[in-house]
Amino acid sequence: MHRLTLSAAASLALVLPALAQDPGTAMATFIDRDGLEVGSVILAQGRDAITIVGDLTGLTPGEHGFHFHETGDCDGTTGFESAGSHVNPDSHQHGLENPEGPHSGDLPNVIAGQDGTAAVNVTSATISLDAADPAYVFDADGTALVVHAAADDQVTDPSGNSGDRVACAVIEANTAP
Ligand code: CU
Ligand code: ZN
Repeated sequence: MHRLTLSAAASLALVLPALAQDPGTAMATFIDRDGLEVGSVILAQGRDAITIVGDLTGLTPGEHGFHFHETGDCDGTTGFESAGSHVNPDSHQHGLENPEGPHSGDLPNVIAGQDGTAAVNVTSATISLDAADPAYVFDADGTALVVHAAADDQVTDPSGNSGDRVACAVIEANTAP
């Protein structure tokens, strides 16, 4: 009995540091080109994929391209070109339906209703909150999420003909309780 108790305590001691290193969650607040807030998402790491859940506002009704871009810099005066290209550590072509794709940063379109709001609820198995992954969001220059003016056709390299970058969010550590 005594031996079992010690064993359980030893197991707990091994588990606790592992939990402390859990990549957990991240957050991102979107701004438009004027710097006004237009939504936010929470990113949560699962075993095989991350989920991205939240809301966007101020969009034109319809589908909008949505991607992880390689630099965590949302400067509206550059039309969010400051965020760079799609995250693409494997040098693939663009598009979830491209036989030479996709980029790690590619995502399904978000769909805005007539009121300009869009509920975001997508997963990505190619972007990670784990520092050991090549598509780690908190690399040296960070990562951004970008919403485009038009639908992503999911095949045209390098950005699916999705047009201007209308909203951008730098991915940040989740400070919510
Ligand atoms: Cu994009
Ligand atoms: Zn892409």
